Amino acid sequence: MKRSEFIRSLGLGSGALMAVYCMGALTSCAKEDTPQPTNTNTPIINPSTGKVDFTLDLTLTANKGLTTSGGFLYNGDVIVAKVKSGNFIALSKICTHQGTTVVYQKDSDDIYCPNHGSMYDITGKVTQTPAPAPLKMYQTSFNTTTMQLRVFEN
Ligand code: FES
Repeated sequence: MKRSEFIRSLGLGSGALMAVYCMGALTSCAKEDTPQPTNTNTPIINPSTGKVDFTLDLTLTANKGLTTSGGFLYNGDVIVAKVKSGNFIALSKICTHQGTTVVYQKDSDDIYCPNHGSMYDITGKVTQTPAPAPLKMYQTSFNTTTMQLRVFEN
């Protein structure tokens, strides 16, 4: 039996199949556990240095979370947050215990790993084990005129 004959035998037209497919795609998106938008348009590694170096345009909707204290997002393996003081921080998002993605908690101004409860302060220092090492910290530079936030490592 040909594929088209099989599909016809199920009584499904191409529109019905597309609807089923799209529902599956939407369900997948709804299961995303990333709490803030991820900027996927920005290369995060400078090809000439091999180091993290990217710029987020805070006028873009995808990056609006960083215009308010307590907001954060991920770009590649970096978590970028606007902390309580209004400053920006950028750290590795990869928990040093077993690699789970950490989250920024605006109420406590901490970085938290939901897997086993490790906590880090906003400099990446471990404040609650089992994490064995700090999160790598990156430099940030914000241009208030252009609303461009650069994240980089020296
Ligand atoms: S993976 Fe983060 S605490 Fe275990």
